[in-house]
Amino acid sequence: MTSRLLLLLLPVLLLLGCEARSPEVQAPQALIAASADHGAAEPAAADRGAEVFDSYCAICHGPEGRGDGPGGAALEPPAPDLVGPRAEHLKGIPRRTIIEDGRPGTAMVGWKAILSPEDLDAVYGFVHAMKHGPGGPMNGGGPGMDAEHRARGAMQTLGQTLKTRLVTTMKEQGPVAALDVCATNAQALTAEVTRDQGVTVGRSSLRLRNPANAAPDWVAAWLREQGERPAAGVVGLTGSATLPDGTQVMRVLQPLVIEGPCLVCHGPDAGRAPELTAALADRYPDDTATGYAAGDLRGAMWAEAAVTARGNGGR
Ligand code: HEC
Ligand code: HEC
Repeated sequence: MTSRLLLLLLPVLLLLGCEARSPEVQAPQALIAASADHGAAEPAAADRGAEVFDSYCAICHGPEGRGDGPGGAALEPPAPDLVGPRAEHLKGIPRRTIIEDGRPGTAMVGWKAILSPEDLDAVYGFVHAMKHGPGGPMNGGGPGMDAEHRARGAMQTLGQTLKTRLVTTMKEQGPVAALDVCATNAQALTAEVTRDQGVTVGRSSLRLRNPANAAPDWVAAWLREQGERPAAGVVGLTGSATLPDGTQVMRVLQPLVIEGPCLVCHGPDAGRAPELTAALADRYPDDTATGYAAGDLRGAMWAEAAVTARGNGGR
């Protein structure tokens, strides 16, 4: 009964919360826009993430993300501590999704409509580093644990960013535009995640579309071992290794499965829109990544992080 009452009150509370916070939220936004207008150099993504967090998120989540911002505590549900253990009802929902789409019926709005894709990436990286970065609580397992978390984080960033952009563009502008997004963004994004998070990441397959996605040896070995098959029952990898130069690294790999929407660009040639086939042939003359069926193992997403403590976007 109490919860029903809260549900009824929620819209009122939310309205009040929004009223109270909009001036504070908007002022820093104007500042950011102004500094960009004056041609200030693009700050590194980590700094940018901190900036975005301070401007848009700290008001509820607190300056250090501990859930103690002036606007956050009185909310129902309250703004959670982003550093401590996750609330039971949020477990299993990717944080990236929560940041992008928000939580309907709560004060957490979807930031996808407000922030640029770059700022979303930056603030996600920043929030991730609060918990998983060098100063965060998820490093209790020592440097190996830290490297594994960084590797997983980078893989997640790449996977979700690609998927979100793909799905949004497909929906809004159709598959040829989405192909364009993939073609022009996938490589850049991979390089960006590698640079910003100090982790090498990539996607690969036995059947490549872009030869630039060729697998490093350890990924190639895994792919060969699986072969061409349905993805059911295929599990990923987590492990450590020593590179020829003596560097200790943690490696993680996650299988990628062909789902319905993937078939538009990776399915059989018959049934694909001719203009899409033409666009594919134009960009990828050596494309072998077609002819898949739903449920097939498409390949893998992988990441490798050095075990030595390295900057990864923490403040
Ligand atoms: C007006 C207050 C408010 C603002 C501003 C806000 N949040 Fe939230 N946030 C919340 C609330 C409330 C929840 C909890 C929603 C729930 O319990 O379903 C939440 C949940 C989250 C979660 C999920 C936490 C978890 O453990 O899964 C993340 C991540 C998050 N917010 C990040 C951000 C980021 C990044 C920003 C800034 C771009 C931001 N929030 C701005 C109120 C806010
Ligand atoms: C709109 C067309 C489109 C859709 C839909 C699409 N892809 Fe792709 N995919 C591409 C393009 C273009 C590339 C090459 C990107 C590049 O140049 O790195 C690619 C590359 C890949 C790669 C890297 C290996 C390679 O062959 O170069 C993987 C893995 C992959 N896609 C998996 C998927 C999965 C899984 C889905 C569904 C969730 C999906 N793709 C949906 C167009 C698409």
